Amino acid sequence: MSTITERLKQHRDLPDEDLLRLLEGQEEETLIAEGDKVRRENYGDAVYVRGLIEFSSFCRNDCYYCGIRRSNRKADRYRLDRETILSCCREGYGLGYRTFVLQGGEDPYYTDQVLTGIVEAIHREFPDCAITLSAGERTTESYRKLFEAGARRYLLRHEAADPDLYRMLHPAGMRLDNRIRCLRDLKEIGYQVGSGFMVGAPGQTGEHLIRDIRFLQELEPDMIGIGPYLRHENTPFRDREDGSMQLTLRLIAILRLIFPWALIPSTTALGTIHPSGRELGLQAGANVVMPNLSPVEVREKYELYDNKICTGEESAQCRSCLEARVFAAGYRIVTDIGDVKKNRASGHDL
Ligand code: 5AD
Ligand code: FES
Repeated sequence: MSTITERLKQHRDLPDEDLLRLLEGQEEETLIAEGDKVRRENYGDAVYVRGLIEFSSFCRNDCYYCGIRRSNRKADRYRLDRETILSCCREGYGLGYRTFVLQGGEDPYYTDQVLTGIVEAIHREFPDCAITLSAGERTTESYRKLFEAGARRYLLRHEAADPDLYRMLHPAGMRLDNRIRCLRDLKEIGYQVGSGFMVGAPGQTGEHLIRDIRFLQELEPDMIGIGPYLRHENTPFRDREDGSMQLTLRLIAILRLIFPWALIPSTTALGTIHPSGRELGLQAGANVVMPNLSPVEVREKYELYDNKICTGEESAQCRSCLEARVFAAGYRIVTDIGDVKKNRASGHDL
């Protein structure tokens, strides 16, 4: 077969113009079917779960797309203390989760001392669990201390590899250079690193997306998170159109074919844009879901975009809801620590 998809699968790469064709929707059905096939070759029908704890909605940044940006005076802010975070982990552990993702805005309250204290406490109580942080840009030293405290994974989306688009999405104080510095630091320290971007962000073109793919090829992250851009009513982008689910699904499949071993979540944003979005994401090649473990009282306040799902449900409800969805989509939830199967990346066996 000499279809574009087949060439992508064989070479794990394509010239820009062919990638563009796939992004535009050529061979969509074949592409998505191959995305699922390749994830099955590498991970079977396993879907990994990560319990997501949204620990702070304070943020010093002012990204134009984000509902918890500093300038959103209407946002109802909260932060979780160590004990509350630990009790979320306890609940998650009981539900079978062996990875906790601590995600929050860039909140100065969580100094290195505070955050390493939290990581150490989780690590002490749950030595069989992986601790993933998603706490934004920090200093090299900070990343090192958090690693020493027991964090082993870090999620930091690059958001846009094209400097002009990056500047369109972020205020002047934020720089793509620093984001890249952070990602390189994290890799060097030894973290399993996750990066990614929003699909259909205001001003984003197919060429921008190709740059994002090229950036990821250079970075070689273990995890890649993408989801459609969704508007939030209290941001400067409130009138910009939402991203597209179909384009997100095509991108998941493309990323699966380029990075056969990667951990790719079927994101909450995908579940928000369409009732079956997360199931469709899995069927395009995603292999991770991130059920919400935050205390129900705060969930509505971590509102990155309008109509975010899972804000009214208890953690146990999210667990069973996801289990049913994953099963109905043709997969099964696996509750082990779920490390990346990188040995398969280069085609070498152990
Ligand atoms: N729509 C979709 N995703 C968003 N994020 C932030 N704001 C939005 C939005 N309005 C994503 C960013 C960030 C991640 C935590 O959530 O990519 O890295
Ligand atoms: Fe939270 Fe379905 S996963 S309600």
